[in-house]
Amino acid sequence: MEIKTYDGKAAEWKGDSIAVILQQEEKCEHLGKLSGIIKEIQSRKDFTGKKGSFIKVPIMDGAVKNLYLIGAGKDEGKSLPTTVRSTIAELMRKIKADNCKDLLVYIPAAASVKDKKRFFSAVGEGIELGVYSFDKYKTVKEDEENKSKLEKVSVAGADDEFLSKGIIYACSQNYSRNLANEPGNMIYPQTLAEHAKELADRLGLECEIWEEKRIIKEKMCCLYAVGAGSEKKPRFIHLVYRPVGIKKAKKIALVGKGLTFDSGGLDIKPSDFLRTMKGDKSGACNVLGAMQGIAKLKPKVEVHGIIGAAENMPGGASFRPDDILTARNGKTIEIDNTDAEGRLVLADALCYASELKPDVIIDMATLTGACAVALGPNRAGLFSNDDDLASEILSAAEACGENLWRLPAEDEKISESMKSPVADMVNCGSRYGGAIFAAIFLQEFIGEIKKGKKIPWAHLDIAGVDFFKENTSIYSKGASAFGTRTCLEFIINRFSI
Ligand code: BES
Ligand code: MN
Ligand code: ZN
Repeated sequence: MEIKTYDGKAAEWKGDSIAVILQQEEKCEHLGKLSGIIKEIQSRKDFTGKKGSFIKVPIMDGAVKNLYLIGAGKDEGKSLPTTVRSTIAELMRKIKADNCKDLLVYIPAAASVKDKKRFFSAVGEGIELGVYSFDKYKTVKEDEENKSKLEKVSVAGADDEFLSKGIIYACSQNYSRNLANEPGNMIYPQTLAEHAKELADRLGLECEIWEEKRIIKEKMCCLYAVGAGSEKKPRFIHLVYRPVGIKKAKKIALVGKGLTFDSGGLDIKPSDFLRTMKGDKSGACNVLGAMQGIAKLKPKVEVHGIIGAAENMPGGASFRPDDILTARNGKTIEIDNTDAEGRLVLADALCYASELKPDVIIDMATLTGACAVALGPNRAGLFSNDDDLASEILSAAEACGENLWRLPAEDEKISESMKSPVADMVNCGSRYGGAIFAAIFLQEFIGEIKKGKKIPWAHLDIAGVDFFKENTSIYSKGASAFGTRTCLEFIINRFSI
C-alpha cells in the first residue's frame, strides 16, 4: 500500500473514496458537491463529529463512490495529532471490507495547524498502524472476501517528507508487532537472533550473537540460568548503528527483555496467566523495531540494541528457588521466585550496556504484573534515575500518543526488603510495590559515569500494555509494540537528524 501527499483540490479528487475527519460543529467546505451532502447530514444530526462517530455515505454519481465522515471531537489544540492518529487508525480498520482502492484523507483542520511536521507524521502513523493485522497463520484470510484491497492512501495538503517520518515510525512499530505476535514455537531465542541478524544485514547494522558457551564465558550467568530449563537455549544479541562521518558521537543503549515464553519456570504460572506470555519478548522486539527506525532515519548518534533472549521453562535443568546466581558485574542474587526472571536477564544485559559507557541507557521490559495492576491497560510505567531524561521521555511519549506514568525508582523500605541473608540481594520481595522493587533491582546493574554518579537510565515497564485482546485506539488486537515510537522520538529529538 502506498501513502502519498495529494496537492490538488479536494473537490477534484478522482479516486474512489474520500474520508473527511471533522471536529464537532466543524463545517466542511472545498469539497464541491460533497460539501453540500455533508452539510445536510450534519443538519440532520446523523453525524455529530463526536470522537468515535463514523458514517459511511455511498455516492451514486461521479468518481467518488464512498464518502466517510469520522469525528475528531472538540478542538483539542496540542493533542490534535494524538486524536487524529487514533481516529485514522480506527478508520483504516473500519473500511477494511469496503470496496475502496484509492482513498483520499481530507482533514480541514490541518490548514490551521502550526506544527505541520508533527501533525502529518501522526497521520502517516495512524494509517500504517491502522492497516496492520497479524493473519499470516490464517489459511483463509478475512481480506480475501474483500471486494478489493486498499492500494493507495493520499493525504490532502500533506508533505511527503512529514508523512514519511510517520510511516518509518509506524513501520518500525509494526515490525516489532510482527515479531511479538509470533508464538513461542516459532520465535525462540535462536530464531529471534536470526531475525536480528536478518535486520542487521538488510540495514547495514553491526550484529553480534552469543550462544550458550559464550554466554557462560562472558559471565552472563543470570541469562544462562533463566534459559537453562528450556530445550531452546538462550542467546545474547547486540546490534550497533554507527552514524557516518561523526567522530566521538554520543551513545545510546537500548536494552530489551527477550523472554520468548515465560512459563514462570519451576514457580510455574497458573494457566490463565500463561496466556499471552509469548508477549514477554516485547521489550526485545521493540528494541529491534527501534533499530530499524534508527537505521532508516540516520540520527547523529551511536545506538546499541542489546537483547537478552531466553525461554523460562520448568525442567530438569531449570534454575531453582534458593539458587544463588552471580551476575556479570559480580553481584550475587538469591532466587526467591523463578517467575521474577526478566530482571535477571536484564541484569546481565544492563551490565554489558554499562560497559559500553553510553550517555543514556533505556530498557524496555514486560517486567511486572504489579505495574499493570498499578497503571491499568492504557499506561506504561517509567522509572528513571535522572529527572531531565525522564521528562524528555515523557514528552516524547506524549508526542507519540503513548501514555507513560513516572513511578519512583527509589524507596528505602523496598530497598531494605531486597536484602538476602545469603547473597547480595534477593530477586523479589513483597507484592506491594512490586514494580518499584524490580526497578530498584535493575538499578543495581547500571554502571557509573564517574564516582558516585550512575549513567542516566530509564526503564519502561510495559507489562499490561504489550498485548491487547480487542482493538484499542491506535492498536489493533494483539501485540502493540508500545514504546517503540517513544524510543525513536526521544532519540530523534535529542539528536535531531
Ligand atoms: N513476564 C512477567 C510479567 C508480566 C505479567 C508481563 C503480566 C505481562 C503481563 C514477569 O516475568 C513476572 O512473572 N513477574 C512476576 C514477578 C513476581 C514473581 C515477583 C509478577 O509480576 O507476578
Ligand atoms: Mn515471569
Ligand atoms: Zn517475564
